[in-house]
Amino acid sequence: MKVLAIMGGPRKGYGTIITEKIEAELISLQDLEFEYLYLKDVNLESCIGCHNCFFKGEDKCPFSNDARDEILNKIFQADGLIFTAPAYALHIPALMKNFFDRLSYIFHRPCFFGKIAIGMCNYGIAGAKKVTNYFNEVSDSWGINYIDSLKINTQPKPGIEKKISKKIKKTSKKFIKALNTQKPKKPSLADVIGFKVRKLLHNIAHDETNADVQYWSEQGWLDDDTKYYYEVRLGIVKRLIAGLINMMVKPQFKKIFADDPKLKYDQYQKLQSIKFGV
Ligand SMILES: Cc1cc2nc3c(=O)[nH]c(=O)nc-3n(C[C@H](O)[C@H](O)[C@H](O)COP(=O)(O)O)c2cc1C
Repeated sequence: MKVLAIMGGPRKGYGTIITEKIEAELISLQDLEFEYLYLKDVNLESCIGCHNCFFKGEDKCPFSNDARDEILNKIFQADGLIFTAPAYALHIPALMKNFFDRLSYIFHRPCFFGKIAIGMCNYGIAGAKKVTNYFNEVSDSWGINYIDSLKINTQPKPGIEKKISKKIKKTSKKFIKALNTQKPKKPSLADVIGFKVRKLLHNIAHDETNADVQYWSEQGWLDDDTKYYYEVRLGIVKRLIAGLINMMVKPQFKKIFADDPKLKYDQYQKLQSIKFGV
């Protein structure tokens, strides 16, 4: 099994000290290959907001020759991920936000099913909850089964090492268990709604040149009998609520994309979707 720690801080600081402790704990529980990916050491250009990845495909990113694909390969090869970041200005550092920005098309085209993750935020006073909730949210959207969060306060206090070790032990056990069971995530109501609404959108706005539509078609997600990204039992209540929401949004989608959906997407990308009168 392979574990990749994605290090989101701009220095090798407390984040490293804590992640090394997590590594030691995991390895004490199971023989693992453990790799660190320091975002500060890779050449990942800042997203310029062209929207090409969304509409035309990730290969049309103006920076597709930087470290993005190397990073992606590392994620694809890992069975388990650890997202780590110090809290900066109540959230993740810009370095890590850019990493998520550059991979934003995966929110539209999730591709990491079968992987598990935990998130760790080291902090001084506040912001860790927001950071770890964000790791959870990103994981859910990317198809990763998010197992647990570690919020580690790094302020000097008596007995802090013991407290941190206890937290790490608990989360490491959960991580190893999930790594070995490989159980797909039980979809939440939000997951089911998200799938159904997007399926509806791509079926109505069916522009075959659109990267999302192409990907969803290739995966078989637009087929009538596909109920979710993967085979899993969906509760009747979740299906009913999601179905109801679909019925509510359908007329809106039909209205927006009544003409050529490609034209609508092109207009959006050219900043022609909002036109105030002169
Ligand atoms: C620029 C900057 C902004 C920070 N903002 C926050 C913050 O909003 N909330 C917080 O609890 N700690 C904040 N901290 C403290 C760090 O999160 C904390 O010291 C952390 O453990 C440092 O991690 P590192 O050693 O891995 O860089 C900030 C530190 C820096 C340098």
